[in-house]
Amino acid sequence: MRQRLVVGNWKMNPSTLEAAVDLATRIARIDGGPIDVGIAPPHVALARVREAIGGSAVLVYAQDVHWETEGAFTGQIAAPMIAGIAAGSIVGHSEVRRDQGDDDARVARKAAAALAHGLRVIFCLGESLAQRRAGETDAVLRRQVRDGIGPLDRERATPSTLAIAYEPIWAIGTGEAATAAQATDAVARIRDELGRLGAAAGAFTVMYGGSVTGANAAEFAAAEGVDGALVGGASLKPEEFAAIVAAFR
Ligand code: 13P
Repeated sequence: MRQRLVVGNWKMNPSTLEAAVDLATRIARIDGGPIDVGIAPPHVALARVREAIGGSAVLVYAQDVHWETEGAFTGQIAAPMIAGIAAGSIVGHSEVRRDQGDDDARVARKAAAALAHGLRVIFCLGESLAQRRAGETDAVLRRQVRDGIGPLDRERATPSTLAIAYEPIWAIGTGEAATAAQATDAVARIRDELGRLGAAAGAFTVMYGGSVTGANAAEFAAAEGVDGALVGGASLKPEEFAAIVAAFR
């Protein structure tokens, strides 16, 4: 049985530290039961949120991490800085790939740095609408797995440290989620490519992300091969996030 995981990626929200602490406190009351529940607040709120939710089982993740451990990298956060605060970090989110020019090689280095400092990793990948329309989805997903996950140290990148989030770019923030069948199909390709790398592909948690809501979560929870959700907008609403967690329980 693979570990199920539902994580709220707050992105650049909410706008105040007080609101972040309030949101985290409410989410910390959600009972995930056997599944892992996580939140990824903005860097500036990580320490306060961690403190505010105290002994809660909710996992706190950073949204990104730099590949170097220190130095002249203005605006960036290094893995050792968050290692004492967060359980892990998201890497490879399409918004970071888009806005900061991350490519597969850079995402691989970020994931490697996080793992080397004892952090868990949620590794995001997914195709754009143009790539899907051009029939390139399979090639894009396989390349992202090969070039982003392939270089990782097999001893460190294990099913308990590395989860993968399939996030088709066209479904993020659009209200147009993939269908369960599309998610299942993409996840199978991702696992197949993981297997080609020699990894125990069947053991890795693979989540779906992109316009997941309280209303459609059950479809993804029932979708073959989908082990969880990476939730953006709906994770800012505690009741709705609780409904998504409940669907995967
Ligand atoms: P939305 O749930 O807002 O579509 O965002 C998904 C996402 O990008 C999570 O990382």
